[in-house]
Amino acid sequence: MTIYRSRVLDTPGDLGDPEGLRSDQDCALVVDDDGVILARTGVEAARRDHPDHPVVDLRDGILMPGMVDAHVHFPQVRIIGGLGMALLDWLARCALPEEERLADADHAGEVAQEFLSGLVQSGTTTALVFGSHFPEAMEVLFAQAQQVGLRMTSGLVVSDRILPETLLTTPSQALDVGRALAERWHGQGRLRYAVTPRFSLSASQEMLESCGVLLREGGGPSEGLWFTSHVNENPVEIEEVRRLFPEARDYVDTYDRHGLLGPRSVLAHNVHPAAAELERMGQTRTAAAHCPTSNFSLGSGLFPLRQHLAAGVPVALGSDVGAGTGFSLFQEGLQAYFGQRLLGAEGVQLAPSDLLHLSTRSGALALGLAETVGDLSAGRQFDAVLVRPGAGGTLETVLRHARDPQDVVAKLFSLGSPADIDTVWIGGERVVSGASHLQEPR
Ligand code: GUN
Ligand code: ZN
Repeated sequence: MTIYRSRVLDTPGDLGDPEGLRSDQDCALVVDDDGVILARTGVEAARRDHPDHPVVDLRDGILMPGMVDAHVHFPQVRIIGGLGMALLDWLARCALPEEERLADADHAGEVAQEFLSGLVQSGTTTALVFGSHFPEAMEVLFAQAQQVGLRMTSGLVVSDRILPETLLTTPSQALDVGRALAERWHGQGRLRYAVTPRFSLSASQEMLESCGVLLREGGGPSEGLWFTSHVNENPVEIEEVRRLFPEARDYVDTYDRHGLLGPRSVLAHNVHPAAAELERMGQTRTAAAHCPTSNFSLGSGLFPLRQHLAAGVPVALGSDVGAGTGFSLFQEGLQAYFGQRLLGAEGVQLAPSDLLHLSTRSGALALGLAETVGDLSAGRQFDAVLVRPGAGGTLETVLRHARDPQDVVAKLFSLGSPADIDTVWIGGERVVSGASHLQEPR
């Protein structure tokens, strides 16, 4: 058992709730040896109830829930910063050549290490990860994620057309390999498996059907698999999908026809949806992963958040590394805010607490983990980030002058970066150790 004493910020309610920011200036979180928060209480009460347990003093930082990245690509960490291209050019010139290199399992191991440390050092504790096209690279990723302790959902990326030959497979191979990987990794600790066609552009009807078969296989260890892909990111892509699927009503329908939508499905981007597509996503509770820095970098467009929320589509945030410009969800939250500002009356006026919600609880909801993580209530796992800005830096200065808790969050999202993340815990285990660990009894 460990008692953490800190200033705590989280958003246990709904997105858009103006009262939704919970800020406790001096709070005790009592965490048991399984990483569960047993109590969130005053410091005196915690001391009284647990007199034999030392209190870890984290009052020189701000404790917030671990962040949830709903869309990020494992093979793309080294190509962050490929500017100047739109989606299809960027795929052909930057992303796909890099992804071909993961055929070498040793190389994939190095990339997995860089990827996982990039995530946790940015304060991300839960992620829906777009995998590699190579099964051996996926083995390496799952094994390393298990070692790090990341709460990760991921799967083999499958495609059978348009991409470079080495990245292609067949529908029956995709089914066999996907099934084997899911049997091996789904439900192992914090890991889950996601069926992952790259996008309809690179997947035939038969490939999408094989994805549906794997997703629906019930009763075995692969029960409850997840689904993820891309949708409606770029006008040229959308037109090509329309041409390749003349019988489909729209892009979302290319997935829907094969039973790929539902409350365990997450589609990235959806920058240019039709009303019928939003309606269908809302009906099926299919979530959208909004990836602001990627959308700006590739010039994909402005995300219609208002329309998603009106249609009842769950929305979470994704970094979309490597089209996105980094792992930090502070940055994604800030850019989501800017994007909505640019939409004027069509946009959603996001409060600072909404940025925190989008980075934490919204992601937990979209990934079906809201009972487990996403806020720091009693009963949740202790997935947490201690933000401790460097002394004398601008973030530290502006935090000292913050007017109220909303202002504190606004400052965190404006100026916060991985350099300000001191310590990160997942399920009560420290996965990033900053200066605070010096005060921890271990
Ligand atoms: N659509 C298909 N593949 C990708 C990818 O790797 N990144 C982005 N942003 N969109 C995609
Ligand atoms: Zn993506």
